[in-house]
Amino acid sequence: MRRHFVAPSILAADFSKINDAIDLINSSEADYIHVDVMDGVFVPNLTFGMLVVEGLKKVAQKPLDVHLMIVQPEKYVEAFQKAGADIISVHYEACPHLHRVIQMIKHSGAKAGVAINPHTNVELLEDVLEDLDQVIIMSVNPGFGGQKFIYRTIPKVRKLKQMINVQNTSTLIEIDGGVGLHNAEAILQAGADILVAGSSVFKSKDPSKAISELKAIGSSKNSFV
Ligand code: DX5
Ligand code: ZN
Repeated sequence: MRRHFVAPSILAADFSKINDAIDLINSSEADYIHVDVMDGVFVPNLTFGMLVVEGLKKVAQKPLDVHLMIVQPEKYVEAFQKAGADIISVHYEACPHLHRVIQMIKHSGAKAGVAINPHTNVELLEDVLEDLDQVIIMSVNPGFGGQKFIYRTIPKVRKLKQMINVQNTSTLIEIDGGVGLHNAEAILQAGADILVAGSSVFKSKDPSKAISELKAIGSSKNSFV
């Protein structure tokens, strides 16, 4: 069976008890900690910057998957890597010189990812795919947690998976927004490797169990391979 990964998004956690949320992820079956950086310009919301990432890094025992929803991300790539980002993803829509930014991320020592908004065609990534460790397919419009999953993004996962197979790259497909037990199997069947889950984990009664349930999808006999 193909293995998949779970990346809880701390955007949905209670920031007055952020240590508890990180401890919970540390001792769970989660594979990464998804960190949403928003600048109030690229997206209509503000979250946090390098200082918070640096603080998270001190307590995190899982890699930090930092999703930059900011304009001119090239200005901050190095600083986020220094702060402790293990994977840095920038938005296609925010980078007129995408190839250059990807090289900057790789040069910094972090793994490189590109995120695409729901309306952005995956084929636009054809010429940079070989350089990417991951692609984030946004399944909501970026900016907020707790939104409804846009089902039109599932065929995009399928198409991207085909492109990855054709080019024979090791790029992972991450899906971000509105992911939960109700749709995770369909997403994984389409070819996704990493499930980002904010509300479905942290707004549930038992976040640790929610993570385990997302990890367990596909492990029964009749599921996808
Ligand atoms: C949206 C963020 C997502 C968000 C996911 O802009 O990029 O990572 O935290 O949260 P849920 O799972 O609640 O949609
Ligand atoms: Zn995100």
